[in-house]
Amino acid sequence: MAALSARVAILVFIGSIVVAAPASRAQSPVGAEKCRACHVKSYDSWMKSRHARAHLVLPPNRRADTQCLRCHSPAETESAGLHVGVTCESCHGNGEWYSLRFIMRDKELARDLGLENVGEATCKRCHAATTVRGAKFSFIEWMKRIAHSDK
Ligand code: HEC
Ligand code: HEC
Ligand code: HEC
Ligand code: HEC
Repeated sequence: MAALSARVAILVFIGSIVVAAPASRAQSPVGAEKCRACHVKSYDSWMKSRHARAHLVLPPNRRADTQCLRCHSPAETESAGLHVGVTCESCHGNGEWYSLRFIMRDKELARDLGLENVGEATCKRCHAATTVRGAKFSFIEWMKRIAHSDK
């Protein structure tokens, strides 16, 4: 009960910030470096994945094309000048609000504030059933290739 009322108080507090902001304003991405501050192991694994360089496979004349960036570097379509690839927030949701430590420790509160449940549907926003090279997308197999446990 105490935990619940604390959560309600925090939500009311954050709600007042959100209401004070312009109505159209969505959460901004904070960038992978910000997540790295508390998730070094996950960050290092991600850095070795193709996602961290997904913007670089685009031909130079397409690197500012939002048609391509929406899958190859989504944050760039929200914050001009960021060349970042498929980042933490492309899957976990923009972390402007949930990435504060006291919020991150509370799984429910973090989700209330934008941390997404990531699963196969998230991958399918960008991945087709068959790749351009003819390989089949398999959630279980492809998850192993991007494994980034923080432990
Ligand atoms: C100030 C430190 C801090 C920052 C910055 C931070 N996190 Fe966290 N994160 C934590 C803590 C603490 C936990 C809880 C760890 C635990 O319970 O084992 C956590 C948990 C998580 C989890 C697991 C949540 C769950 O319920 O399964 C994910 C996913 C996550 N963080 C992603 C991110 C992403 C993405 C970013 C950047 C947008 C980020 N974090 C930034 C501290 C942080
Ligand atoms: C391509 C999508 C994707 C990207 C990019 C991504 N993650 Fe994840 N992440 C997942 C999935 C899927 C899981 C496992 C499902 C779950 O536990 O919620 C996960 C799990 C986690 C966990 C919990 C792992 C644990 O050991 O309990 C943390 C923390 C995390 N991610 C942080 C990050 C950070 C930090 C980045 C960027 C440096 C990042 N993720 C990039 C999809 C992604
Ligand atoms: C925002 C778009 C986006 C999301 C969401 C996304 N990916 Fe990707 N992924 C890409 C792009 C773009 C590439 C190609 C990068 C390249 O060619 O270097 C890629 C490449 C990969 C690769 C490397 C493929 C190879 O040939 O080695 C794996 C593995 C992968 N993704 C797994 C996943 C999984 C699993 C998920 C869901 C948890 C996911 N991706 C979610 C955009 C995304
Ligand atoms: C709906 C999401 C999506 C969009 C939009 C998208 N891509 Fe991709 N792209 C991917 C994914 C996922 C991969 C890696 C796996 C695959 O081939 O399906 C990829 C792979 C690639 C590759 C590497 C192919 C290879 O040889 O392995 C190139 C180059 C590429 N995309 C260019 C582009 C260009 C240029 C645009 C814009 C005209 C674009 N993509 C738009 C999701 C997308």
